[in-house]
Amino acid sequence: MAPVRRSGPGTWLFLLPLAAPLLHVALSVEPISMGIAIAAASAITGYISFPELYCGRLVECCRVEEPLNGTALQNDLKEKLFGQHLAQEVIYRALMGFMSNDNPKKPLALSLHGWTGTGKNFVSKIIVENLYPAGMKSKFVHLFVSTVHFPHNNLLSLYKDQLQSWIRGNTSRCARSIFIFDEMDKLHPGLIDSIKPFLDYYENLDGVSYRKALFIFLSNAGGDLINRRMLELWNEGRKREDLELRDVENVLSVGLFNNKNNGFWHSALIEKNLIDYFVPFLPLEFSHVKKCVLAELRHRDLEEDEELASRVAKEMTYSPKEQKLFSDKGCKTVAAKLSLHL
Ligand SMILES: *[C@@H]1O[C@H](CO)[C@@H](O)[C@H](O)[C@H]1NC(C)=O
Ligand SMILES: *[C@@H]1O[C@H](CO)[C@@H](O)[C@H](O)[C@H]1NC(C)=O
Repeated sequence: MAPVRRSGPGTWLFLLPLAAPLLHVALSVEPISMGIAIAAASAITGYISFPELYCGRLVECCRVEEPLNGTALQNDLKEKLFGQHLAQEVIYRALMGFMSNDNPKKPLALSLHGWTGTGKNFVSKIIVENLYPAGMKSKFVHLFVSTVHFPHNNLLSLYKDQLQSWIRGNTSRCARSIFIFDEMDKLHPGLIDSIKPFLDYYENLDGVSYRKALFIFLSNAGGDLINRRMLELWNEGRKREDLELRDVENVLSVGLFNNKNNGFWHSALIEKNLIDYFVPFLPLEFSHVKKCVLAELRHRDLEEDEELASRVAKEMTYSPKEQKLFSDKGCKTVAAKLSLHL
């Protein structure tokens, strides 16, 4: 037993032996700080009274109240994501609005669409890291990949039960849970509607409120619609940045609802407007691919070599055949291609 003197007169706190090494570390680093001692004690006894003192340092905490740092989010979206002016703007707006609302009427549901390699997974990672520093490894973040978690069509009813129970279980532990569904285009269309009750405007279901949770859906579906719109724009001689959200948002939701080859086919989520934002990811051009190479060089602590970046970007294939505008794989294989040059 390690008795610790509290600043108030005559109050003593007896801690479990387990707490002693932790306290020792805290006390040896800083001058005797009772705040940390109490925080450590409460972390161990499960008595949470000073979350700001230990969350992130000793334990990962569910962040229900803490607002989002808008500057950090905006910097990430601007500096790490290339060629996606619409996604940048929509995601920033959606997330800041949602996170600063103490009483949202429903959970936030974002559906990200675009060709492979355009940054959908990457943006999900940025969102997650801005909420939880542990990123995708956070225990409050749940990733479901259709072909990995729900591969067999004949097990549909099992998957439905499982998915519902996971979402219920995790959200009851942490209201600010994040659920990401990758490969929505490969998901059985019947499955996603089983989570409809969680996305709806209910105050609570069986005592659990889902209103502070985040749902992110990723899919290649709709990518061709977006690309067609971009090509039209290009043919009219207009700039990429001229594309506005309303130019694609509606095309996207109608297109997805009617497209048999995706998880949103005839989905009640779309019919009942439970998806808050359809976020288009535009096809990437040569200049963006080049930026991806430069970012990869930076990431590997190498010199940013413009000439090398151009060479790697030139190795990607571009479509359509005549104009060769858009990289077929976006930035997806850039890292591997770069490795061959080093
Ligand atoms: C928000 O993020 C910016 C940029 O990363 C940082 O400089 C600033 O200190 C952060 N603000 C808070 C309150 O954490
Ligand atoms: C939380 O979700 C994971 C899947 O990401 C699942 O394995 C786990 O059982 C769920 N936890 C609860 C309490 O339901």
